[in-house]
Amino acid sequence: MARFYLKFAALFALIGSSLCALYTDPSQLPSTTTYDYIIVGAGTAGNVIASRLTEDPLIQVLVLEAGVDDANVQAAIAPFLAPSLTPGTIYDWGYNTVAQSNLNNRVLPYPRGKILGGSSTANYMIHQYGSSEDWDKIAADTGNVNWSWNNIKQYIPVHEKMVAPTDGHDTTGQYIPGNHGTNGKLGVSLPGNSQTIDAKVIATTSLLTEFPFNPDTGGGSVLGIGWAQSSIAAGVRTSSSTGYLRPVLSRPNLSVVLNATVRKLIPNAPVNGLPSFNGVQFGSFNGPAFLVFATREIVLSAGSIGTPQILLLSGVGPTADLSALSIPTIINNPSVGKNLSDHLLLPNNFIVSGTDTLDDVARGTTFAAALSQWVTSKTGVIANTVANHLGFLRLPSTASIFTTVPDPSTGPTASHWELVVSNFFLNPAVAMPSTGNYLTVSSIVISPTSRGTVKLASIDPFAAPIINPNFLSTTFDVFCLREAVKAVKRFVAASPWANWVTGPYGALAATSDDASIDSYVRSTAGSIYHPVGTASMTSNTASYGVVNPDLRLKGAVGVRIADASVLPTLPNGHTQGPVYLLAERAAMLIKAAQ
Ligand SMILES: Cc1cc2nc3c(=O)[nH]c(=O)nc-3n(C[C@H](O)[C@H](O)[C@H](O)COP(=O)(O)OP(=O)(O)OC[C@H]3O[C@@H](n4cnc5c(N)ncnc54)[C@H](O)[C@@H]3O)c2cc1C
Ligand SMILES: *[C@@H]1O[C@H](CO)[C@@H](O)[C@H](O)[C@H]1NC(C)=O
Ligand SMILES: *[C@@H]1O[C@H](CO)[C@@H](O)[C@H](O)[C@H]1NC(C)=O
Ligand SMILES: *[C@@H]1O[C@H](CO)[C@@H](O)[C@H](O)[C@H]1NC(C)=O
Ligand SMILES: *[C@@H]1O[C@H](CO)[C@@H](O)[C@H](O)[C@H]1NC(C)=O
Repeated sequence: MARFYLKFAALFALIGSSLCALYTDPSQLPSTTTYDYIIVGAGTAGNVIASRLTEDPLIQVLVLEAGVDDANVQAAIAPFLAPSLTPGTIYDWGYNTVAQSNLNNRVLPYPRGKILGGSSTANYMIHQYGSSEDWDKIAADTGNVNWSWNNIKQYIPVHEKMVAPTDGHDTTGQYIPGNHGTNGKLGVSLPGNSQTIDAKVIATTSLLTEFPFNPDTGGGSVLGIGWAQSSIAAGVRTSSSTGYLRPVLSRPNLSVVLNATVRKLIPNAPVNGLPSFNGVQFGSFNGPAFLVFATREIVLSAGSIGTPQILLLSGVGPTADLSALSIPTIINNPSVGKNLSDHLLLPNNFIVSGTDTLDDVARGTTFAAALSQWVTSKTGVIANTVANHLGFLRLPSTASIFTTVPDPSTGPTASHWELVVSNFFLNPAVAMPSTGNYLTVSSIVISPTSRGTVKLASIDPFAAPIINPNFLSTTFDVFCLREAVKAVKRFVAASPWANWVTGPYGALAATSDDASIDSYVRSTAGSIYHPVGTASMTSNTASYGVVNPDLRLKGAVGVRIADASVLPTLPNGHTQGPVYLLAERAAMLIKAAQ
């Protein structure tokens, strides 16, 4: 499917753009080499911070971004084209995992946006903020009450701009307006393209008590199934680029450079006996190296893969690993690149007898007409993301796993797994069938206990690091996904689906007992691309971790980290919303220290 999408995206790509205050190559940067702040990565978090810091005209900010411009990249604008943006395009870092020993040794693509807006420009646009208990756990674990939900939720109204869905339908009962902002930076909306299965999902929630209706999964209370909220407004993707950066690119004190890969941080003289960093070395692939300096702080916002890679290249990490590559250790910190946590996704495909599905659009038969509708009116299938409903569920408290394993959810009202309903065949691990109509009910491990690593493969900053999410390496994760498959089968066996779902498709059809389900999982599951934890935030006194609760790099002066890498535990949900709130708070912390 990705290949198909790509063909059309390229065919319809609009050419030409004006670049405002954006430099497309490091060589264009004026000779200024000193800025108040240097932000590494114009991604989800980086652009929030750049935008907030330059609200003060006296503060000079340089943003260094390895990727390309997002302007006029149609697949980054038209929501339903998201699957064509990654993996393996110029908008993707092109990472792969190492062979996953618990997934039949499969090597999984591990996309990350390499484009202005970072992964917010390349993702699937599902948008919520996790469970209140995710934030309360961070507050408790870090010993800093200001990370609690009660404090964090103040950033929702400054971040979010909830708008009517593009089809203008009545959204009463589909979300709780009081949970949301209408005046923030990022446009967010409910699904803008109604479909026959919507009513079946809602009917199922009133029939089966294990799948209750949740009137708003974006308000901190995640349990139950509800209407998806997404970073889409007026039928087009919103991102940290469109919402935060582009609107302020004309600020004279903001410089953004594309094609600018940061190679490493450069130390300065120690401050109060602590190592300090103020220099950033960067350049384009095969281009010359440039050096710039931050008089106040360097903010690393290169994401869960880029941030630990840059730290390691700069001599911040486990000494043994650094020595093996002859990198002098500046700070011995064994936590850098460790505790990688990610959500494992299992798309469960069903054959359906209904014909009102999106399969013909996805496989191309009716794509041109759908795209033309979107081009003309920004409505229809293309104006929407890949799911209208999702929800968060717990394993029963009586589940046998809890006799041997502590409950890994972040709290009693947080979930163990997620269910996402898509009205077509959506499965990165399996080729789309050339005919037929399908339903995909994905199950995702939300509270995994597997932990992985990001390590350097080489001292070459342009070489991909070694990424090992170590999926399904714990009995909890295996148990959780197995039970989720059984629950998904119960979901589609509910009466509203009786004249719709014909039966399971592909390897799912061969599942009966636990062993066959486990085998299906190993053959099909993959990442939903939510890595966190590789530069974890821990308390000031913890014996491990990479940043303190004020997001400052432990044991150093001059560096903060603000991106998904600092989240110590996965949120109950898709990760962009939590990263946006974290970035708003990071900007506040940085300003408060001025
Ligand atoms: C395909 C895909 C689908 C997803 N779907 C969803 C979804 O539907 N909903 C959701 O909530 N989340 C989704 N996510 C996850 C979500 O997008 C990310 O968790 C979030 O955007 C991460 O934000 P970040 O700021 O940590 O990193 P990013 O947004 O990735 O930003 C990092 C930036 O740093 C740049 N960078 C990295 N290294 C360097 C370097 N050395 N020098 C200079 N620049 C560098 C990168 O190019 C990038 O622009 C998805 C992710 C992907 C990849
Ligand atoms: C939390 O924030 C308040 C207000 O900014 C501040 O006064 C307080 O010191 C913070 N608490 C911690 C533990 O950082
Ligand atoms: C920032 O703005 C000030 C005036 O407000 C100006 O003197 C300075 O040159 C600007 N710096 C940059 C990098 O644009
Ligand atoms: C980035 O810079 C390199 C070296 O100057 C150049 O070859 C390449 O085309 C540039 N890439 C983009 C996307 O501009
Ligand atoms: C990983 O996180 C756990 C807590 O979840 C902690 O005990 C452990 O020390 C961390 N490992 C490293 C290397 O930081």
